[in-house]
Amino acid sequence: MYNCFAMNTKQQLVSELREVAPSLGIKDINPQVEYPADSSHGDYSTNIALIGGKSTGKNPMDLALEIKEKLEERKIAFLEKIEVVKPGFINCWITKEELLNNLINIVKGDGEIIPQNGEGREVVIEYSSPNIAKPFTIGHLRSTIIGDAVANLLEAIGWKVHRDNHLGDWGTQFGKQIYAIKTWGNEEEIENSEHPMKILVDLYVKFHEEAEKNPKLEDEAREWFKKLENGDEEARRLWQKCVDWSWKEFDRIYNELGVRFTENDGKGYGESFFDDKMAPVVSELEEKGLLKESEGAKLVFFPQDKYPPLMIMKKDGTTLYATRDLATDKFRVDQYGKDITIINEVGSEQSLYFQQLFETEQLLGWVKKEQRIHIKHGLYRFKDERMSTRTGNVVWLDDVLEEAVDRAKKLGEDVSNETAKAVGVGAIKWNDLKREAKQDILFDWDDLLTMQGNSGPYLQYTFARTQSILRKAETVNFKSDSIGFKFQSSEITLQSEERDLLRLLTRFADTVGEAAEKYAPQLVASYLFDLAQAYNLFYQKFPILKKEESVRNFRLSLTAATGQVIKQGLSLLGIESPERM
Ligand code: ARG
Repeated sequence: MYNCFAMNTKQQLVSELREVAPSLGIKDINPQVEYPADSSHGDYSTNIALIGGKSTGKNPMDLALEIKEKLEERKIAFLEKIEVVKPGFINCWITKEELLNNLINIVKGDGEIIPQNGEGREVVIEYSSPNIAKPFTIGHLRSTIIGDAVANLLEAIGWKVHRDNHLGDWGTQFGKQIYAIKTWGNEEEIENSEHPMKILVDLYVKFHEEAEKNPKLEDEAREWFKKLENGDEEARRLWQKCVDWSWKEFDRIYNELGVRFTENDGKGYGESFFDDKMAPVVSELEEKGLLKESEGAKLVFFPQDKYPPLMIMKKDGTTLYATRDLATDKFRVDQYGKDITIINEVGSEQSLYFQQLFETEQLLGWVKKEQRIHIKHGLYRFKDERMSTRTGNVVWLDDVLEEAVDRAKKLGEDVSNETAKAVGVGAIKWNDLKREAKQDILFDWDDLLTMQGNSGPYLQYTFARTQSILRKAETVNFKSDSIGFKFQSSEITLQSEERDLLRLLTRFADTVGEAAEKYAPQLVASYLFDLAQAYNLFYQKFPILKKEESVRNFRLSLTAATGQVIKQGLSLLGIESPERM
């Protein structure tokens, strides 16, 4: 689906090294090839001689020279020069021809696609997972953005991807919610409100305030939840209302973010779906001797007390979050097969819980360790305050999205509404994806929307710049469908900024592959940022249109290729690329 046209010369170099290594006595090695940050160290660098030096007992410098000689004997067409530097690194340079071929392939759009290393693999990736009748928090926003990007990346390298949303639509909080609606709420008012969630959250907050004064309310709430679990009609009716009211909000948010799910007709399988699927799981735990009773409750204890015990059933016989998660994963394994990979994108505050869950699933014999993955994200901080539903200290996501769009409008003279939306939403997404998910984020509007640095708008602006140049080129008789054909390699003397840009363009496919394998969208973001910076440096220094034909066509090709890669990369991150800004 996401075509990429870059030649993967790095993979080729790795396989050359793999062939050369045994003849020099280096065995069982997985050669590492890196991209040196500094172009004076070449386009590729490998430490194979340093690693091989240890296993063979040879001096790494000598070994590096031997490897260099072997590589040179093989006359690898895409390599121009090989150099050995202390303490034994081997640096390699790509030929100008290869760099230009790659450029032409990207522009022509019929080169290689992203290596489909994930073919045959299948994954359920679960993200977003907000709670019914509670606000869609910034944590859910992060999960939505990161989960969607990882899903896109896995799809791009050939995985079969199921996108799931584990809605929090079941649990004791519904006892509280139902009690609150019945005691203080007005259904008609909620029904007709633009923002039913705001009213529901106020009611929920009120419940907690009142329960502080009168702990009996907690019992009332427990009663209502029991009724709900037992199928009581009134309890079910109000619960369904809460679900419908909440979806009004969620639908709006997912539309705005351009995010979708594939499971259960696009709604995802929420916790309530597993209500009747928990009993068999509890029995299985029981049969496999994994449940122990303690003070009336049932828990899983872990070998050597590796983790604290995980509660599966409360002493009043009600189930928990964990019980529903187990039923969920059992369902996934049954549905998609025992080799399925299951990923949960959930905040890092649930790390211990997921370790307990994964361990339990392994003890049950459902999955192997490597099949269960928790992608965790850090917190958003707004002047140090952590958001919580309970205190009513809530930051409404709608407000954040609205403000982002408003601010995006002010970035240009006449930014259309559609563009402002793409830029505002893009800014929020980029801010999340430009760093490792597990890091906390200090939320700062100026940072988010800066045109000077590492921001979504900066990337989108660079893309729009490439498109504007190409549009102008057409008025000087340059046909974009034939870019890349009209210059001869011999007529081009590469400037160092041009060469830097060309070497970055060779890395795209490989970067996407690595980002997917590591579930690390930030690798794509940081690559795109490097590319945009390299392009802007080039653009500031060299005229494009006011040059003789061959140079002009070459520079237009660079422009077209950069635009194409930025657009494709941003789309993997779930970010749009407006044509004009
Ligand atoms: N609804 C939960 C929350 O808001 C997140 C669910 C995460 N996924 C899971 N399978 N437990 O905290």
